[in-house]
Amino acid sequence: MGRVDFGAKPFSYPQPVWIIATYDENGVPNAMNAAWGGISEANEVSICLSVGHKTCKNFEKTGAFTISMADAAHAAGCDYVGIASGNKEVDKFAKAGFTATKSEHVNAPIINELAVCMECKVKSYDHETCILKGEIVNVSVDENAIIEGKVDVSKVAPIMFDPFNNAYHVIGEKIGDAWSMGKNL
Ligand SMILES: Cc1cc2nc3c(=O)[nH]c(=O)nc-3n(C[C@H](O)[C@H](O)[C@H](O)COP(=O)(O)O)c2cc1C
Repeated sequence: MGRVDFGAKPFSYPQPVWIIATYDENGVPNAMNAAWGGISEANEVSICLSVGHKTCKNFEKTGAFTISMADAAHAAGCDYVGIASGNKEVDKFAKAGFTATKSEHVNAPIINELAVCMECKVKSYDHETCILKGEIVNVSVDENAIIEGKVDVSKVAPIMFDPFNNAYHVIGEKIGDAWSMGKNL
């Protein structure tokens, strides 16, 4: 019996694999991978994004971005956008295997290949803390991932980031209902 300390690390489960997509001033789409993000209010996301990313330059100009959930079918492309930078690789979005449709709600691209997308407006971006806050304006889901009106997580096949082992895992089987399976305790 015992526990092993890993120290003051940004390690948790599950960590998201959020693909943040933006347009530059000429309407060229770009995307990056981000794990350090989460929901911080009913209609707000907060993400820690290093200043200097092409993504940050873009959303500071357009005031908008989208967040798509990485999935198993496109994991290599999702990883690629976390390695290459749009600052150097102008064709990054296409090389990842992505195509874009402009959001009807914000000035940012929706990645056609990824089913679940949050469309966001920039609320604030602090260069000191690197925290981007975004207002969730809409969530849209590819109709192919919706069965009888409900989003089917097995169709989406979202992946999570394992920071302990630098790996991606597909999110697995349902084990219960939320706000329900604990009721009888
Ligand atoms: C698994 C993974 C998670 C990442 N998480 C973050 C993150 O939370 N914040 C960040 O600033 N960069 C993160 N990155 C790095 C960026 O995705 C990477 O620097 C990318 O090249 C930036 O692209 P851009 O310059 O085209 O915007 C992550 C990369 C990977 C592979």
